[in-house]
Amino acid sequence: MPDKNVPVLTIDGPSGSGKGTISRRVADALGWHLLDSGAIYRAVGFAAGMEGVDLSDAEAVTRCAISARIGFRDPKDGRETRVIVNGLDATDEIRTETCGAAASAIAAIPGVRAALFDKQRAFRKAPGLVADGRDMGTVIFPDAHYKVFLTASAEERAKRRHKQLKEKGLGVTLAALLREIQARDARDADRVVAPLRPAADAVLIESTGMSIQQVVAAVLKLAQRG
Ligand code: DC
Repeated sequence: MPDKNVPVLTIDGPSGSGKGTISRRVADALGWHLLDSGAIYRAVGFAAGMEGVDLSDAEAVTRCAISARIGFRDPKDGRETRVIVNGLDATDEIRTETCGAAASAIAAIPGVRAALFDKQRAFRKAPGLVADGRDMGTVIFPDAHYKVFLTASAEERAKRRHKQLKEKGLGVTLAALLREIQARDARDADRVVAPLRPAADAVLIESTGMSIQQVVAAVLKLAQRG
């Protein structure tokens, strides 16, 4: 059983809001563990793809979510956390837009969310946990000590993503990215189970025009206020 006394800081928000980067930096600054729940949904999407499961077959995808062995490994050389799915290093594959779209589709299946409930709660370990996702503050850790809902305009998020992809040498138009972000927002917010919405007790941070350092500082201030 995860220890209820271990502090949890949840950071929820739409895709491209910078949650991943912010959560990692806040976890490092506090010396806490990190749960990247989106990576878990992406890992299930990846496992389903490997097994040739039809993503519209809710029962088959749920079986996949129950049986998938998903592990996170921090390399000693400071490289990004490796995500191991059924024995395979899927770190790069799960970050593709295809895997993101698959994750968003299967995340709407109630059986999948139920299968991942305990897996996510098990990350709550001393000295503390920063949990990044869509329903961390509403469903997985409703008793979290600190809750943040991080957002930015769709245009700003598309611009950030465009810059990232350009740096990786990948050519995608800004207009296409904006359309993808808007479609994913709608799917994540309109689903029946655990839709994307701020917890009633979350602090809202609208990060349009803010730097990463400014957002990290704002989140840390909240956690250090006690
Ligand atoms: O944060 P991300 O882009 O890596 O998440 C991928 C998808 O997984 C996202 O579109 C919705 C889903 N997801 C979810 O439904 N609940 C979470 N807690 C995290 C992610």
